[in-house]
Amino acid sequence: MLIPRRDTGFVHPFASEITPQAVYQDRRRLLQLMAGGAAGAAVAAWAARDALGQESGVPRPGKLAALPARRSAVDGAATMEKLTDYKDASTYNNFYEFGTDKADPARNAPTLKTRPWTVEVEGLVKKPGKYGIEDLLKLSAQEERIYRLRCVEGWSMVIPWVGYSLSELIKRVEPQGSAKYVEFVTLADKATMPYVGSRVLDWPYVEGLRLDEAMHPLTLLAFGMYGEVLPNQNGAPVRLVVPWKYGFKSAKSIVKIRFVEREPGTAWNKAAKQEYGFYSNVNPEVDHPRWSQATERRIGEDGLFAKKRKTLMFNGYGAQVGQLYAGMDLKKFY
Ligand code: MTE
Repeated sequence: MLIPRRDTGFVHPFASEITPQAVYQDRRRLLQLMAGGAAGAAVAAWAARDALGQESGVPRPGKLAALPARRSAVDGAATMEKLTDYKDASTYNNFYEFGTDKADPARNAPTLKTRPWTVEVEGLVKKPGKYGIEDLLKLSAQEERIYRLRCVEGWSMVIPWVGYSLSELIKRVEPQGSAKYVEFVTLADKATMPYVGSRVLDWPYVEGLRLDEAMHPLTLLAFGMYGEVLPNQNGAPVRLVVPWKYGFKSAKSIVKIRFVEREPGTAWNKAAKQEYGFYSNVNPEVDHPRWSQATERRIGEDGLFAKKRKTLMFNGYGAQVGQLYAGMDLKKFY
């Protein structure tokens, strides 16, 4: 069933695909929260979505092409939190290829050309290849996942992403036994990205994950947010979202995915080794050398009396990802 929205008349893309089981599980989670007395904001968020007849979907802002998705069974721990406004999520960005001010990417990224777009998969895989963005979009079912994104600078957002687990792509390309890490190379095009060439970072912006982190179902290859294709400033046409790591691990506008044996050099690690380690797991106990990581400011909660939130270990995803780091000294591997 497609539900037209009352305010914009746009068709909500999710409702038709919500499985009764997902709805049922969400209700159960809500009841558990209520039983635990932690229901306030969750009830408000739930009620707002229910009022639109969207059991668990999110109203789309209606600016860009719709990207239909079904509600994911691998949802984040943030599901019941109030979503960040689309306006904030799309105008307060880090995308240094378009400038270092938070407002720069929204202003400057319209020049980015997202079609045609190819993502090359190479390195230690049995089936390397080039994927056109349209094929990549269809490689697996698009899912909506509500994840927190916590930036190392001390702010966070809650965003309904659209995409599928990166593991879907990885399984298809069949990594060789020697592949231990995955490197993500992003576009560096001086013609369309005005700050590529500036000395702030070594271009292209590169990120990396250990293969088991990349295979973890929470690691999302994202093509959209709020039910629409990604706006350019958020990393169109395809980016990573790794919800238990600081935001800078979530590489935007990816053009190459390379399977390698050794830990790849990453953009921020190369720029300031002491400040940005390879792992970059959200960890309130490990301070950034120049500031604490114990609390965070939720974007949209900026009032005079707004309290900072306590930052959670692994950004609140410890139950799902903690075992990836069993036995590791997370102060050393920060
Ligand atoms: N990817 C590229 N290519 N270039 C960047 O400058 N910034 C990172 C990450 N991915 C960045 C990038 C940082 S520091 C953050 S916090 C997130 O993108 C921000 O994502 P958002 O703007 O969608 O919130």
